Amino acid sequence: MLTTLKSVLAKANRENYAVGAFNINDLEILQAVMDAAIAEKAPVILQTSAGAIEYAGMEELAALVHIEVKKTRVPVVFHLDHGKNIALVKQAIKSGYYTSAMYDGSALPFKDNVRTTKEIVKLAHAKNISVEAELGAIAGIEDFVSVKEREACFTDSTQAAEFVRETHCDALAIAIGTAHGAYKFKGAPRLDLERLKKIKTAVKIPLVLHGASGVPQKLKQHCLRHGCKIREARGISDALIKKAVKFGINKINIDTDLRLAFTVGVRHKLKESPETIDPRKILGEAKKVITQVAREKIRLLGCAQKA
Ligand code: G3H
Ligand code: 13P
Ligand code: ZN
Repeated sequence: MLTTLKSVLAKANRENYAVGAFNINDLEILQAVMDAAIAEKAPVILQTSAGAIEYAGMEELAALVHIEVKKTRVPVVFHLDHGKNIALVKQAIKSGYYTSAMYDGSALPFKDNVRTTKEIVKLAHAKNISVEAELGAIAGIEDFVSVKEREACFTDSTQAAEFVRETHCDALAIAIGTAHGAYKFKGAPRLDLERLKKIKTAVKIPLVLHGASGVPQKLKQHCLRHGCKIREARGISDALIKKAVKFGINKINIDTDLRLAFTVGVRHKLKESPETIDPRKILGEAKKVITQVAREKIRLLGCAQKA
C-alpha cells in the first residue's frame, strides 16, 4: 500500500519508533528491502537519490516500486532522497510517482533555504505529497579541518523551530554528528544527543537521521576477507541508534550498509563458486544478505510489527 511520509511518520512519532528509509538503485535492492519489510510486518520508506535516478531512470524505478507495492499490504512510502536540484524535485512532484520528496537546501543560507523549501512544500502539499527538509550540514570527517568546525554546522534548535514554523515541512533532517558513507568517525562514534533532545522539544515534528549506517563489524570483516579495501570504515553503533530513536528520530536513512551487504553477497558467491556465470545466482546472493541486514535494522528501529 503506497502512503505518504507524513502518515507513516505521524504514527512513528506517536509511538516512539523510527521507520527505515532504504536507498534503492535496482530491482534486486528493491525486492530485497521489500522482502525484509514484509517478513517483519513493518512500514518502509523506499528512496531514490539523484544518482539512482541517473543510473536506472525515474520512470523505471517508479514502475518497479509501484508493481512491488501492489503485491503487499505493508505501508510503503516512495520518497525522493536529497533533492538538491529544484528542477528534479519539481519533476518528482509532477510525475505522480512519489508520495514524498526531500528538498535539500542545507547548503543555502538560512533565508534562502526557508524560501525555497516553502515553495516546494506548497507544490507538494497541493498534490498530497509530503516534504522532508534539511537544516544543518550532514558532512563527512574529511569535509572539515577540526571537530569544532564540524560542530559549528550542527542544527540549532531555535533556528529549527523557526524553519518548521515558516516552511510547514512534514519532517526535518538534522545534523547531530552523522555523515554519509562508510567513514563517519576517526575515533569512537558519538552523536550530540543533548542537541537532539533540544531540537525535538522545539519542533515536535518527526526528525530524520541521515548517514545512519552502522557499518557492522560482521559485514566489514566479511568484506575484508573477500578482498574489499575498507579498513578504516566506521559507522553509528546500534546503541547510539537506539538512543537517537528514543529521543525523537523517526526516520533513519540507510544506504551504506546495503552497499556492504550487496558487496559481501556478490564477492562471497564469486569466490565460493568461481564457475558461476549466471547473474541471477550472483545477484540472488546479494539479495539474501541485503534482506538479512534490512531485517536487523527494522528490528533495531522498533518498527517491526508496526505495519
Ligand atoms: O545520501 C547519500 C545516499 O547514500 C545516496 O548516495 O547519491 O551515491 O546515490 P548516491
Ligand atoms: P549512510 O551512508 O550512512 O547509509 O546514509 C544514507 C543516507 O543518509 C541517504 O540519504
Ligand atoms: Zn542522506
